[in-house]
Amino acid sequence: MRPDPTSARLSVAPMMDWTDRHCRVLHRQLSRHALLYTEMVTAPAVLHGDRARLLGFDPVEHPVALQLGGSNPGELAQATRIGADWGYDEINLNCGCPSDRVQSGAFGAVLMKSPDLVAECVAAMIAASPVEVTVKCRIGVDDQEPEEVLPAFLSTIRDAGVRRVAIHARKAWLQGLSPKENRDVPPLDYPLVHRMKAEFPDLHLSVNGGVGSLDEAKAHLAAGMDGVMVGRAAYHDPAGILAAADAAIWGESAATSAEEAVAAMLPYIEAHLAAGGRLHQVTRHMLGLFLGRPGARGWRRTLSEEGTRDGAGTDVVERALSFVTEAAEAA
Ligand SMILES: Cc1cc2nc3c(=O)[nH]c(=O)nc-3n(C[C@H](O)[C@H](O)[C@H](O)COP(=O)(O)O)c2cc1C
Repeated sequence: MRPDPTSARLSVAPMMDWTDRHCRVLHRQLSRHALLYTEMVTAPAVLHGDRARLLGFDPVEHPVALQLGGSNPGELAQATRIGADWGYDEINLNCGCPSDRVQSGAFGAVLMKSPDLVAECVAAMIAASPVEVTVKCRIGVDDQEPEEVLPAFLSTIRDAGVRRVAIHARKAWLQGLSPKENRDVPPLDYPLVHRMKAEFPDLHLSVNGGVGSLDEAKAHLAAGMDGVMVGRAAYHDPAGILAAADAAIWGESAATSAEEAVAAMLPYIEAHLAAGGRLHQVTRHMLGLFLGRPGARGWRRTLSEEGTRDGAGTDVVERALSFVTEAAEAA
């Protein structure tokens, strides 16, 4: 099945340790259309690691993109081919992640300083790939001047064949800030990203960074962006970002709900437990499902306390849900 080319209108950002396969299955219960990204997997890990663990996913997750980290064109090309063979709908190159581990491997955000190397990497990936190759980047790093380097970067990777880019609308400071600080401290520059859309009408550009609600996402689309990529807000408030997205962005008639997502997760969780998995591996991603709603605290607490015990089963989820349903009945 070919992926829906409009799915990148709203995407959930790649997030290490967060957007694992269980998280993505949850997000898919809330939106049929939004594009979902994996955690970053390095190209050497794809080549030499446990592929079933690193690349395995559930068919329900489509459309789903694999994010790769690396800066060796040959390795990236091989990893791209392998990812496409596993069934991913898109392969994305990480040019935005500032962590030390990643810097020492000379990839992630430091690649903003080497657009020609990025061009070589993506050209090799595109040549090896039956599916679309995309890039996620920053507006610049360290003392770079974003007004200059971002258009030069986009133009270089466009000439190498890239057609779709997600731009985290802030710089990364490679010295002195932790990866976490690098997601909050450097100021956001949405106007610059919006101007890039005007300057590169032939590129599909998504804005990323600090988008906190579906309304904010819609405002970026209304302002002309092709797509919006949401990270932390989608993780902490998945229903708030995703449950109304199919109706609001793709014109579907009805929104879904957190309750429906829980019901849809139960058979998935049963299968996970039957295969030897633990409840918390799935439910840790579900803690924010009822954020801001009556009963949310009981939901969270039950999942956090009981869901981590040995042998915990779906009855814990049902008990947790009763806090929300009883609060709704009492209202
Ligand atoms: C826990 C966590 C892990 C992340 N891991 C990745 C990653 O693997 N690859 C990547 O490109 N960005 C990663 N990011 C950055 C996000 O994709 C996103 O660019 C950033 O959080 C800004 O978007 P937001 O404000 O909507 O969260 C991560 C962010 C978080 C919070």
